[in-house]
Amino acid sequence: MALLTVRNLGVTFLSGKDRVRAVDDVSFQLEPGERLGVVGESGSGKSALHLALLRLLPRPPICETAGQALLNETEILSLPEKKLQPIRGGQIAMVFQNPLSALNPFLTVGEQIAEPLVYHQRLSTRDARKAAITLLERIGIDKAAQRFRDYPHQFSGGMRQRVMVAMALAARPKIIIADEPTTALDASVRQQILKLFQEVCHEHNTALILITHDLAAAAQVCGRIHVMYAGRIVEAGPTEKVTAEPRHPYTAALLQASLRESITPGEMLRAIPGRPADARRPVAGCAFHPRCEFRESRCEKDVPQLQNDQSTSKRSGQKHDSLERQFACHVDWRARGAKSYSSS
Ligand SMILES: Nc1ncnc2c1ncn2[C@@H]1O[C@H](COP(=O)(O)OP(=O)(O)OP(=O)(O)O)[C@@H](O)[C@H]1O
Ligand SMILES: [Mg+2]
Repeated sequence: MALLTVRNLGVTFLSGKDRVRAVDDVSFQLEPGERLGVVGESGSGKSALHLALLRLLPRPPICETAGQALLNETEILSLPEKKLQPIRGGQIAMVFQNPLSALNPFLTVGEQIAEPLVYHQRLSTRDARKAAITLLERIGIDKAAQRFRDYPHQFSGGMRQRVMVAMALAARPKIIIADEPTTALDASVRQQILKLFQEVCHEHNTALILITHDLAAAAQVCGRIHVMYAGRIVEAGPTEKVTAEPRHPYTAALLQASLRESITPGEMLRAIPGRPADARRPVAGCAFHPRCEFRESRCEKDVPQLQNDQSTSKRSGQKHDSLERQFACHVDWRARGAKSYSSS
């Protein structure tokens, strides 16, 4: 059985008369120690999907969540709040996209890192303090014992983001969900944090879900990639296969955009022609069809389902095969000798 099994997850925000379908029928599995990269442009539902797993989204009537999420055999979407508390942070830790709003301004940075060590790992205050200082050193904070007593506002944006990473690592969770953990960091610190994730996952067999605009970072750290578009996973598979031979035109466009050197990772995904999908104004058929140069008439009517790639499926006969590829596209666009989306 997989460590995490997500089935038919949906998230809908209700604001006024609008129903915003942020996540639409998403299913996937995560194995212990697996490193999964989730990429897709702004608004594609990456954060909503993963916040929903920990029930960190607003409640009805503001937001409705559907589907199932099994952590081992425990269904966590319907778990009473009291039973979910130790899972949050203890078994599944989250590095939030916005570190300033996620840190408590009234507690020192050290206290906030030490707290999960006391709560989840049952360390004494003294041992938690020592472990927290070690973690601060590990995330590259100079004079860690001294900085332990500082408040979040005394840290720079990049340092606060690193503190979020340390807090997530503190409880040695089974899964770390890191939502854009390196966006505010300069190149060398970004590398340091990505390396830290790799080391920790390896040391403790921790699974990682790395949500990022930076396809290169996902490719560097993760063995599998999920590409999201308009609330759905449109392509999933081993990193080297997805990046070398994309099967969805959107993945191909992402890759092509990422090859342009003069743009930053944040801009990268905006470099694709056409307007990004707007969850408030869903289109019929494939959500990518208005921007897709390979669209056919059925792309405008039928939503393509995520299907196993016939050439790689059912080799092992296992339910979840990390080498398996899936994509959601009606068109055999690669057969047309496409020039603009081809990675070669
Ligand atoms: N609290 C909210 N209320 C209403 N709509 C929301 C809310 N949070 C997210 N949405 C909408 O849900 C959709 C998915 O948003 P989400 O934040 O998951 O995107 P994302 O892929 O994480 O984007 P980014 O890369 O910018 O972080 C968007 O259309 C967004 O406007
Ligand atoms: Mg987000």
